[in-house]
Amino acid sequence: MTRFAPTRAANARESAPIATGTDANRITLATRLAAPEPGWDVETDVVVVGSGIAGLTTALHISRQSALRVLLVTKDVIAAGSTRWAQGGIAAALGAGDSPEEHFADTMLAGAGVCDETAVRALVREGPAAVRELAQMGARFDRSRDGQLSLTREGGHRRDRIAHAGGDATGAEIIRALVTRVLDATDVSVIEHALVLDLIRADDGSVAGLTLHVMGEGQRDGVGAVRARAVVLATGGFGQVYASTTNPSVSTGDGVAAALRAGAVVRDLEFVQFHPTVAWLGSRSRGQQPLVSEAVRGEGAFLVDDAGERFMPGQHELADLAPRDVVAKAILRRMFETGAEHVWLDARDFGAEKWRVRFPTIYETLLSLGIDPVRELIPVVPACHHASGGVRTDLLGESSLRGLFGCGETACTGVHGANRLASNSLLEGLVFGHRIAETIIARLGEPAPPPRAPVVAARGALLDESARPELQQLMSRDVGVLRDEKGLTLAAESLTELSRRGTGVPGTETWETTNLLSVAAALVQAARMRDETRGTHWRDDHPERDDEHWRGHLDTTLAADGTLTTTYVAIGSS
Ligand code: SIN
Repeated sequence: MTRFAPTRAANARESAPIATGTDANRITLATRLAAPEPGWDVETDVVVVGSGIAGLTTALHISRQSALRVLLVTKDVIAAGSTRWAQGGIAAALGAGDSPEEHFADTMLAGAGVCDETAVRALVREGPAAVRELAQMGARFDRSRDGQLSLTREGGHRRDRIAHAGGDATGAEIIRALVTRVLDATDVSVIEHALVLDLIRADDGSVAGLTLHVMGEGQRDGVGAVRARAVVLATGGFGQVYASTTNPSVSTGDGVAAALRAGAVVRDLEFVQFHPTVAWLGSRSRGQQPLVSEAVRGEGAFLVDDAGERFMPGQHELADLAPRDVVAKAILRRMFETGAEHVWLDARDFGAEKWRVRFPTIYETLLSLGIDPVRELIPVVPACHHASGGVRTDLLGESSLRGLFGCGETACTGVHGANRLASNSLLEGLVFGHRIAETIIARLGEPAPPPRAPVVAARGALLDESARPELQQLMSRDVGVLRDEKGLTLAAESLTELSRRGTGVPGTETWETTNLLSVAAALVQAARMRDETRGTHWRDDHPERDDEHWRGHLDTTLAADGTLTTTYVAIGSS
């Protein structure tokens, strides 16, 4: 790895106040933005944005298989990001008796009728080899005494097929292994503390690089341009749109927002998955919350209400291991019925030894919160966890804009449909990271100079960071697991109000808050339009799944005048 030291530059001009409007179906972000003027400029063949499993896999694979120059930029340090928080593991048909066909069936069922079958087939077929390769690259998965991978089960899986590491520290181990490889790769340059701002478009409409804001020592507000022949957005999800989430603070939807501003299609943003079991912290339930992995239920723990009564048996044949939309809704219903602020997870049967060996991270976290799961029930509530939608990509990982790729949680490849199957997300980053790398290698061939495209003003605006908590609270209140037209309209209006709050000074916080606004607005618009209940998207006023009218996707674009347009695309018509 080459650590990159851009020269000092600043020059982002202040943007004008935002005027936002909403009618019955559309939100308009009518904005005027002064584009940041790059004070420095670099060239590469491929720029990868983000250092989770998706970004690192793509960068490594390109560097291992070609002579192309790769620049990896990441908002925090290279080892930060969502992947390292992943507990449960990575799903693949690796066990005796399991098969990609069975993994396919479980994924399609969880996805509630809107998965892309071809994408799911690619995921489950290429998954086992990709996981084995990850192990060869140094990821130390947990194994039984005979050296076989230890596999567990999570919600919606009918087989034990979740490979894990360090008990419940799978993401951290994968990141350790991949970062070690990237640091060893001489042809991958890295810029840390770099927030992607906007995409650069060439005359032919293709994407030819990006601008970013580097927050290095002495380089705060340093805006630069990276000229590249291919751009891969792998910035993770947008959990910070909500007040309470398992996602780290960096998950502010930067890639999705930049893609929207550049004119790319984003798909199915309304399908936000809420993890059923996040430790309830009472008045501290704000921001990133401690996850209690589904694997804990996979190993036998179960949910009970205040009266100690189990409520999942009878709701679904898999009871406590039903797909997580089913479990999250059942928990919320029980909370509403009983007036409780949370339900409980009972894992006392594990005993201290099992907690220590199998779930050391969760055990330590719970103990630090004053909860001893060996003797006590764990208070849990659902919280925002994963975006099934994102930048629409094809089977090669390319977006609607040539030269722009999306990978991992940033993308909507179609593998998750309306509800991601547990532990399929790390696998998606791995499999599609490979696919994107291969596509880029085949297309670009040898290193060459990128096109010299002008950096032009992007749509969007810099919203003052003081708007962020209110945005998060209104999204949690009105656009959570349970939604209706009234709440969604209120959310659209509240976002409008919020966006008039005034313009922030250009900087990371204002760019992030602006990104959260753009993503939230697109999400709310799609959620208002989808008059049905499907997967993670639950409408109290339209409680049935409506395949006749809604078995398809919602594609959203941001037009030049700032209007978000959402279009329904029936399955089979695109
Ligand atoms: C978990 O460990 O429960 C989370 C796994 C996932 O979201 O895929």
